Amino acid sequence: MALYSEKVMDHFRHPRNVGVIENADGVGEVGNTVCGDIMKIYLKIDGDVITDVKFETFGCASAIASSSMATELIKGKKLSEAMALTNKAVAEALDGLPAHKMHCSVLAEEAIQNALNDYYAKQKSKS
Ligand code: FES
Repeated sequence: MALYSEKVMDHFRHPRNVGVIENADGVGEVGNTVCGDIMKIYLKIDGDVITDVKFETFGCASAIASSSMATELIKGKKLSEAMALTNKAVAEALDGLPAHKMHCSVLAEEAIQNALNDYYAKQKSKS
């Protein structure tokens, strides 16, 4: 069996939503100290909905595929749905990741949560 699913390879080779959002409403960055990979997520939010999302990932194929899939999963979704996205759901949407690569999908979950927390913190400081 191939190490990576076709979906992982597709999202690695053709990642969706790569880039930066200038004046993003929320930005989240996480890193894994063991492998050194870094993921940054930018959110554009209108009311209760994520209207746009972009990512920059300096990392392995699984981290890039996880970021790409995670951004697809939260685009157009409510903030509460994005907050509830788990790394398991990202890995499942990719038709699985090898066990030793599951930590790569954790970066996506954490980066999204950090970006949402950044958004909430900014909202609080405005009020
Ligand atoms: Fe660390 Fe993939 S090896 S994020």
